Amino acid sequence: MFIGLDLGTSGLRALLVNDMGEAVHSAEAALTVAHPHPGWSEQDPADWIAAATKVLRRLVEDKPAEMAQLRGIGLSGHMHGATLLGADGDVLRPCMLWNDTRSSAQARRLDAIAGMREISGNIVFPGFTAPKVAWLAKNEPDVFAQIAKVLLPKDYLTYWLTGQLVSDMSDGAGTSWLDVGARAWSPQLLGTTGMRVEQMPRLCEGSDIVGPLRPGLAGDLGLPTAVQVVAGGGDNAAAACGVGALAEGDGFVSLGTSGVLLAARDGFAPRAESAVHTFCHAIPGAWYQMGVILAATDSLNWLSQIVGASPADLTQELGDTIVAPGALRFLPYLSGERTPYNDSVVRGAFVGLDIASGRTDLTRAVVEGVSFALRDSLEALRLTGANLSRVLAIGGGARSRYWLEVLATVLNMPVDLPEKGEFGAALGAARLAICGVTGAAPSDVMTKPPIAGTILPRTELCAAYEQAYAAYAASYPSLKAMP
Ligand code: XUL
Repeated sequence: MFIGLDLGTSGLRALLVNDMGEAVHSAEAALTVAHPHPGWSEQDPADWIAAATKVLRRLVEDKPAEMAQLRGIGLSGHMHGATLLGADGDVLRPCMLWNDTRSSAQARRLDAIAGMREISGNIVFPGFTAPKVAWLAKNEPDVFAQIAKVLLPKDYLTYWLTGQLVSDMSDGAGTSWLDVGARAWSPQLLGTTGMRVEQMPRLCEGSDIVGPLRPGLAGDLGLPTAVQVVAGGGDNAAAACGVGALAEGDGFVSLGTSGVLLAARDGFAPRAESAVHTFCHAIPGAWYQMGVILAATDSLNWLSQIVGASPADLTQELGDTIVAPGALRFLPYLSGERTPYNDSVVRGAFVGLDIASGRTDLTRAVVEGVSFALRDSLEALRLTGANLSRVLAIGGGARSRYWLEVLATVLNMPVDLPEKGEFGAALGAARLAICGVTGAAPSDVMTKPPIAGTILPRTELCAAYEQAYAAYAASYPSLKAMP
């Protein structure tokens, strides 16, 4: 038996799988995000430990016989968060999360430094770790002076589980301190924020064994002492392991809170100016690239709160099949945008509101707007040489057939829907644990899920959606110019 522990922004999930990687049971605990000031987004790492304790105890309670055979735990988690430890291993302040935008001035300054983009392979986005630490140096110098180690969020759970200060390549790649091509911390990049390699965790590949559970903890939680903890990966890399997106040509589109269009790559082929993210994969010798949009289902959730109907009800009102793009345009920049604009200041808009516009028009515009934003990501990915000819759809938004049809038509490629089952980051983390503990090859363990169906582009409507996409793309400059 193996466990994938996935630290998500809104909750922590533990997935128990058997040695074949098949789901046996799962448990979840909710997490909240604090926004003490505009643009700030924080979590208390103590809450992660409380949540992990809860879900592990629940699994022991529900499945005692299976948990007695537990051999390994793999971690996955939201990326980029700065979890700062002092010399005694205590947390110095709440973790600043991936969607915290307070450090945009620091990100701009770091991004302009020669070598930054070349070595890290990426723009320094405000959500990344280095600008957060640069913000601290200026605004909380006492905390900055006490930093002994910077961990990524899931690595703090690894520290709690094993006592080891370790990270993995895929998560390290989102800090702006890693030489992403060489898979090593870059003293040059660290120096730009006044940091040193000694302040970084030891780097592992995602399937490397970090060590056994701390004996006291194993006893406390009722887990076997022989359980090994494996380094794991950042959530998108782990999700790619969960759906078997390991090699060139494999990819997925995720309609979650944020939206992701991901392509696995056999080599390091950065093109930072496209605002595509180029990160190490969680398996050795591989990378991946992705376009990230900040508000995918978040845009629909926003609309749902305003109109007082659930996101599922809203998409149901659209039906299952598309007829033509609506006249109303929605630009989903509710929290700024990463790909392709790297613009934390721009905000969203409805364009073309009519006196007759109703709820379904707004929903349709939101579904289309998010799909157009992902088309922007596809164009950006193409600039890097990534060649996707079909994608697998995952995430909550993929439950809407209408949305998938829009997406297939706007991306002009088949969109595969996995059969119901497990295929997220938690499964990827569990699969990394299987590889680490058993020595099995990733390609044997990280297979693709069975496909329930494929949504094909509606070719007769492609030209109409292409035109709507062009109108959508033409609106960004006027939004950017707004004071
Ligand atoms: C990736 C990113 C998000 C977070 C939260 O760059 O910021 O995917 O990992 O899910």
